[in-house]
Amino acid sequence: MTVTALPISPHPAVDGGLQLEVTNVKPQTDSIVSITLADPSGRNLPSYVPGSHLVVQYGEEGVNAYSLTGSGNAPSEYTISVLRVEEGTGGSMAMHRLMVGDRVFVSRPRSAFAPASTATHHLLVAAGIGITPVLSHARAAADRGTASSLIYVYRPGAGAHVEEARQLLGPALTECRNRESFQQVLTEQLTTQGVGTHLYVCGPIAFMDSVLDLARELGWASARLHSEAFGAAELDDGEPFIVNLVRSGLRLEVPAGISLLDTLEKAGKSIPNMCRKGICGECILPVLKGTPQHRDLYLTDQEKAENTTMMCCVSRSEDPELELDL
Ligand code: FES
Repeated sequence: MTVTALPISPHPAVDGGLQLEVTNVKPQTDSIVSITLADPSGRNLPSYVPGSHLVVQYGEEGVNAYSLTGSGNAPSEYTISVLRVEEGTGGSMAMHRLMVGDRVFVSRPRSAFAPASTATHHLLVAAGIGITPVLSHARAAADRGTASSLIYVYRPGAGAHVEEARQLLGPALTECRNRESFQQVLTEQLTTQGVGTHLYVCGPIAFMDSVLDLARELGWASARLHSEAFGAAELDDGEPFIVNLVRSGLRLEVPAGISLLDTLEKAGKSIPNMCRKGICGECILPVLKGTPQHRDLYLTDQEKAENTTMMCCVSRSEDPELELDL
């Protein structure tokens, strides 16, 4: 892509956002690249809440969301990191082709993984590319003088931002390269933290579920637990579940690997949608009963905790059955 390849018009998910220029491209690993974006005229960019993400348009029609890695305080640039998924549909290949000088449409930063203002310590847990939003949390905590620590699990050679994390956190960073050592460190940290500590976890769904389940088993209240899934392109197939449409009187099975949106469309329902990646907010549906497994980047933490709405393009169900006002 070159400067002239800027799409003619912004995708609705980034409409009202910014046109930024790529100012740096830095490989983190064989498959992860960091991309830095700045205003072409050199103006400062809008500040953001730590843990926020940016929706970036690739090509004429594609959009995807990426976590910002900075503290968010009066930034002159935004940095995101992108994992290349060879067979993926999330646009990572196009993102990896970006070069310095290229221009892209982006949204304003959005927050769905904010730090708790009352926390006295932030315990950050990340796997693989999941380090990006927690690095933002660690930077913001350092700026504000709040204590934080990070457990980062990654395969040898597949860790991103490792040097930055080492410099930022020093001995408060624990690097784990296998499941056994990670489980040991995690259990130790979860059993020794004070009640003012909040837990933040980002990584694959199964990884996050196991960390959050262990925290709950060890007595952590839900209000102290925060999580953010990877972008929709890397979501797993999920478990099958049943959805009951109360107004239509329909009972549908949502198989593993098939989205609720696809299932509803196949049953003849017309659901507004744009990105089909949990980013734009168009496909929101009201939930009457059951607990959605929220996998989107649109709803806020509070909205997710309320469990009264869900984004049917990516989110699934924690319970065997869900009831929708549809
Ligand atoms: S279609 Fe965009 S969030 Fe579902």
